[in-house]
Amino acid sequence: MARIIGGIGTTHVPSIGKAIAEGLQSDPYWSPFFRGFDYVHGWLAREKPDVAVVFSNDHGLNFFLDKLPTFAVGAANEYRNEDEGWGIPVSKPAAGDADLSWHLINQLVGDGFDMTICQEMLIDHAITIPMSLMWPGKAAWPVKIVPISINTVQHPLPSLTRCLNLGRSVGRALDAYDKDIKVIVVGTGGLSHQLDGERAGFINKEFDLLCMDKLVNNPDELTRYSIPEFIEQAGAQGVEFLNWMAMRGALTGKVSEAHRNYHIPISNTAAATMVLENVPVTAKAHGCTSGKEADCCGTCVNSKITPAKKPEQIPA
Ligand SMILES: [Fe+2]
Repeated sequence: MARIIGGIGTTHVPSIGKAIAEGLQSDPYWSPFFRGFDYVHGWLAREKPDVAVVFSNDHGLNFFLDKLPTFAVGAANEYRNEDEGWGIPVSKPAAGDADLSWHLINQLVGDGFDMTICQEMLIDHAITIPMSLMWPGKAAWPVKIVPISINTVQHPLPSLTRCLNLGRSVGRALDAYDKDIKVIVVGTGGLSHQLDGERAGFINKEFDLLCMDKLVNNPDELTRYSIPEFIEQAGAQGVEFLNWMAMRGALTGKVSEAHRNYHIPISNTAAATMVLENVPVTAKAHGCTSGKEADCCGTCVNSKITPAKKPEQIPA
């Protein structure tokens, strides 16, 4: 079965891509941010994941305001980047894992998430920058990815509860996947920032730290915030934290914080990096009713929604 080894949360500000291209990692402005990835590099080198499931929001490469799915998932074996107009070099492509994508899609749709299924999907800076931060200087990234896009742009947005449950559905699917692979889950974007309007430049450190604290041991507590309330606290684009909520939801075991870096500002954004470790919980420990102590069903950990019946395989 797939093993979820942990989650990574990271900011994806476009100017980070420019700093990487220009080799500014040690520049005094950038260094407090890039140094936050030293731990991540060591952790990834030790853990050697095979696949990264990446929750992010599309910034216009695939979807625009005329057609914007609430949730979309890639089901391809390769994902290309294109010029987004930020002055960032076009990135190398990322390898995909279409088999795993279809497995996740079956679980997600079975659980009531009406996913837009993309057998062709471009990846933008919300994925290419985190990948470049996690594995800098590699000719090819050493993992396959499954990109999952969450609408953080066109209101009404999905709630924090909905995104946490989306992640939980992905986590259950990963726990039930029959291939022996190591998986990390990544949530990108945020933290607090607002790009336009009267509050342009808005940052809320106290709220960011609260979100990071709660994300570790009690993400459900954050679901008390409606989307307007969350935007009030985190800024209009701070709502990209929905991607972090989905990432946390996918961690189905015992979760602990291994690393955190928080730096203000990068561009006009509160830049944060976090590593959460996930240790699988045995059936006995969490009272699993699957009846298989050595082979936990994986459907009852941290879960507040009813597990779906195992869906029929959808032909790819
Ligand atoms: Fe963004």
